[in-house]
Amino acid sequence: CGIVGYIGQNDTKEILLNGLEKLEYRGYDSAGIAMLNDNGMNLFKVKGRIAALRDRVDNSISATMGIGHTRWATHGVPSEGNAHPHQSASERFTLVHNGVIENYQDLKKEYLSDVTFVSETDTEVVVQLIEKFFEKHQDTVEAFRQTISLLKGSYAIGMIDAKDQDTLYVAKNKSPLLVGLGQGFNVVASDAMATLKVTDQYLEIFDQEIVLVNRSFVEVQKLNGTVVDRKPYTAQIDSSDIEKGTYPHFMLKEIDEQPFVMRKIIQEYQDENNQIKLDQDVREAMKACDRVYIVACGTSYHAGLVGKEFIEKLAKVPVEVHVASEFSYNMPLLSEKPLFVFISQSGETADSRAVLVKIKEMGYPALTITNVPGSTLSREADYTLNLYAGPEIAVASTKAYTAQIAVLAILAVDTAQAKGIELDFDPLQELAIVANAMEVLTDQKEAIEDLARNYLETTRNAFFIGRSSDYYVCLEGALKLKEISYIQAEGFAGGELKHGTIALIEEGTPVIALATQTDVNYAIRSNVQEVAARGANAMVISMKGLEQDSDAFVLPHVHELLTPLATVVPLQLLAYYAALHRDCDVDKPRNLAKSVTVE
Ligand code: G6P
Repeated sequence: CGIVGYIGQNDTKEILLNGLEKLEYRGYDSAGIAMLNDNGMNLFKVKGRIAALRDRVDNSISATMGIGHTRWATHGVPSEGNAHPHQSASERFTLVHNGVIENYQDLKKEYLSDVTFVSETDTEVVVQLIEKFFEKHQDTVEAFRQTISLLKGSYAIGMIDAKDQDTLYVAKNKSPLLVGLGQGFNVVASDAMATLKVTDQYLEIFDQEIVLVNRSFVEVQKLNGTVVDRKPYTAQIDSSDIEKGTYPHFMLKEIDEQPFVMRKIIQEYQDENNQIKLDQDVREAMKACDRVYIVACGTSYHAGLVGKEFIEKLAKVPVEVHVASEFSYNMPLLSEKPLFVFISQSGETADSRAVLVKIKEMGYPALTITNVPGSTLSREADYTLNLYAGPEIAVASTKAYTAQIAVLAILAVDTAQAKGIELDFDPLQELAIVANAMEVLTDQKEAIEDLARNYLETTRNAFFIGRSSDYYVCLEGALKLKEISYIQAEGFAGGELKHGTIALIEEGTPVIALATQTDVNYAIRSNVQEVAARGANAMVISMKGLEQDSDAFVLPHVHELLTPLATVVPLQLLAYYAALHRDCDVDKPRNLAKSVTVE
């Protein structure tokens, strides 16, 4: 979900629609725009895609200010009525909002019992409240400020007063929001990608700040009205990075980019003597802690599981890996000197941020590993390691996952070196071999497409099994498949399937087994026999050196610690082709958001 706003000299329609298209990757199920001109407010909303919104918008309308929104439903079903922008009863105020207003029912009861609501959203309470306070004060800034001061929860808000063609009212708490600066115009966006076409100069907005955005100036205020001085920064994204080029889907482009990302990471984390180059403070923090707590969601959580292996095996530091949404409410007993490591592609995931806020309050140090420098999780942690994967647009994460694993390997080895542990493993050299292996793999798309056709085209479910680090990749392979092809898929530790789930194996059920680990090669192959004997359509993906004649696919050899970087590639491609053959929307799967900014 996302927000875009414009106030300037030119027609706003295309800037808003184009901005919303650039935010599509974040996931959404309805969309809308509102544009103000001398004839008043022009509002257009649809359930579904921006393409439908384009069809709906009246092209003859011209306006030089407006706000747009993509909604990922939280309160109220995806529908035209629940889509933003929302308006107050008199239609004077029009507002878009990302986030969740936790006290909306209390506010409704206390202030708005006489108002008839037209949507089921928490957002409508905000806009109705602004009108209520306006009736009292006859001052829009005051009404806006008073309303924002009462909100509990997360919000990024853009608001227009139909009687004022010179101001966009903006507010932020927890949900991401930036103000972009131009010559004679200014923009508002959930992320810079939405408005890179018009400016690369941005102002960071902090929590509980209000911004008044005019054509020629921007004023950032604290909730109490104090004006804040804020310098702009230059967004480091190249607008060509966010185009598909000749690829049919961003996901395929991003899978193919993985070898380059590996090489970029080597380059960024290597000094002139070919040694690891890493922030000294991060090194000290890793050395000083007695336990690492990795906190993440989704794919980033899966990368964290692989990271645990690296840090424990190489640096001999105990590691716990936690799902952020669980950690916030059910905190484990902490060690004396914990270090928190947040892994997040976007750096904006609300569940992870909730944990970061909590552990900072408790006084613990935090490191964020992210693909977006300057993101909330990066700003608020003590240290950041960048992934250098370039913008990831497809909802299903691919290159960020492999980048996370690569950076975690470098971090683990750096920590080992800091502790004086001798290792027979040079991650930079081994990652270079991985990059080559990935290239070999992405060149074998046809073979993998055939496997997807033979094993996954018509199935209802599928299982992935593996042992040791292959197991972690199975979790990720299953997640990829379910996210984009809607096949019910689960990843299991090889030995575990027989303790229950084997009951689901029927004639022809696909079971994809990974066999890249020497010491469990025999064991995983026994598991394959067990399921095959019960009718499963089993396929083994193995690694050169451990392969058998019957294996469906053999990966080039990479260092045994780094096999997840190779095994995941065919699994990403299997998911991609399965989704393609089943006519699914690969880059924008139903119900999913790329950047989940609500808890
Ligand atoms: C969403 C995305 C996933 C992603 C997860 C964590 O659910 O759909 O692909 O893995 O968020 O995102 P993060 O940006 O924190 O890595």
